[in-house]
Amino acid sequence: MIAVESLAKSFGSIRAVDGISFTVGKGEILGFLGPNGAGKSTTMKMITTFLPPTSGTAKVADFDIWENPLEVRARIGYLPESAPSYKDMNVYDFLMFTAEVRGYDGEERKNRVMRMLETCNLKEVAWQLIDTLSKGYRQRVGFAQALLHDPEYLVLDEPTDGLDPNQKQEVRALIRRMGREKCIILSTHILEEVEAVCSRAIIIGNGRIVADGTPEALRSRSVLHGAVTLELTGEGIKDALADLQKIEGVARVEELKNDDLPAKTAVAEGEDAAGSAKNGKSSLRVRLFPKKGVAIAHEAAKFVHERKWEVDAFTLEKGDLNEVFYNLTKGGEKA
Ligand SMILES: Nc1ncnc2c1ncn2[C@@H]1O[C@H](COP(=O)(O)OP(=O)(O)O)[C@@H](O)[C@H]1O
Ligand SMILES: [Mg+2]
Repeated sequence: MIAVESLAKSFGSIRAVDGISFTVGKGEILGFLGPNGAGKSTTMKMITTFLPPTSGTAKVADFDIWENPLEVRARIGYLPESAPSYKDMNVYDFLMFTAEVRGYDGEERKNRVMRMLETCNLKEVAWQLIDTLSKGYRQRVGFAQALLHDPEYLVLDEPTDGLDPNQKQEVRALIRRMGREKCIILSTHILEEVEAVCSRAIIIGNGRIVADGTPEALRSRSVLHGAVTLELTGEGIKDALADLQKIEGVARVEELKNDDLPAKTAVAEGEDAAGSAKNGKSSLRVRLFPKKGVAIAHEAAKFVHERKWEVDAFTLEKGDLNEVFYNLTKGGEKA
C-alpha cells in the first residue's frame, strides 16, 4: 500500500502541493487527474523520494520516505515526466547500468535486461543512442528502466504523453495488465485515459484533492448524468416541448440545436434546425433532465410511446467527465 499523509510542497511563495492525503492498495490503478501546474508531478516526486516535502510524509509498503528512502526506492518503479536522456548511452548500456544500480550482476543482470528489451519491444533499437530515438521509443526505455526490478509499486508520470494513438493503446494495455498484481499511480490530463485504465481517479486542482472516486462515480456528478436525449418525429411535434415537461421525474426540458449534437445526427444543410421537415412531419431534438436522483428513462419511453411519436434516437446519458473535471478545476491552471 502507498499511504500519503498531508503531503505539501512549497517553492518559495508557490504552494505546489497543499496538503494531500490518500491511500492506494494492490490491484488499484489510481489516476492523478489535473490541469497543468496542479501539482501532480511534484506529488509523485515526493512519493518516489526525488524531492523532499515541505511537510507531511508518505509510506510505501510501510516504509517512510523520510526514514527509509532506500527501501522506498527499492520497491518503486518510477517513470519521470520527461523520458530519460543520456547523451552517450545506447539502450542496452543504459538498461545494464540501471540493472547494476538496482543491485543485479552476472547472468541475472543480463537476463533482466534481455527480458525488458523483449517486454518493451526495444530489441531492434538496443544498440541505438537513446538521444536519437523517437519519443515513443524513449518512453519505452523509460518503462523498461521502471520495470526492470519488477517492482510492486509503479509511479508513472504522464506515461502516454507524446505517443501516437497506437502507442497510447499499447501502453494503456500494458498498464492494465500490470495493474492486476501491482499498485499503480499514474498522472494524466487526458480524461479518456482515466476511463480506459484507472479503477479510481483523484482530481487535483491547485495542489489539493478536489474529488476522489471511480471514473463512473465522478461522471455521475455531471449535470448530464441520467438525462435522456431524444430525437422525435410526429404530428404536432413542435408542441411537444411543453408536453414532455409532464413526464414524471423530469426537472426540465431543453431543446437541442444542431451544434449540441454529434455530426452524424445533425440535420442536412438547408433544413430548419428547430424542427426539420421529414415526410411532411416535423422533428424535434430535446434533452430531459431528471430531478435529483430520479431515473426517468422508463417514464420517458412510456410517454413517448403513448403519444405515438416516432423515436429516431433515445439516449440515456452517462454523464460527461469533461464537464465534471472542468467545474472542479476551473481557474486552476498555473504556469
Ligand atoms: N522546481 C520547481 N521550482 C519552482 N516551482 C516549481 C518547481 N516544480 C514545480 N513548480 C511549480 O509547482 C506547481 C505544480 O507543478 P507540477 O507538480 O509540475 O504540476 P503538474 O505536474 O500537475 O503539471 C506549478 O505551479 C509549477 O510551476
Ligand atoms: Mg506534470
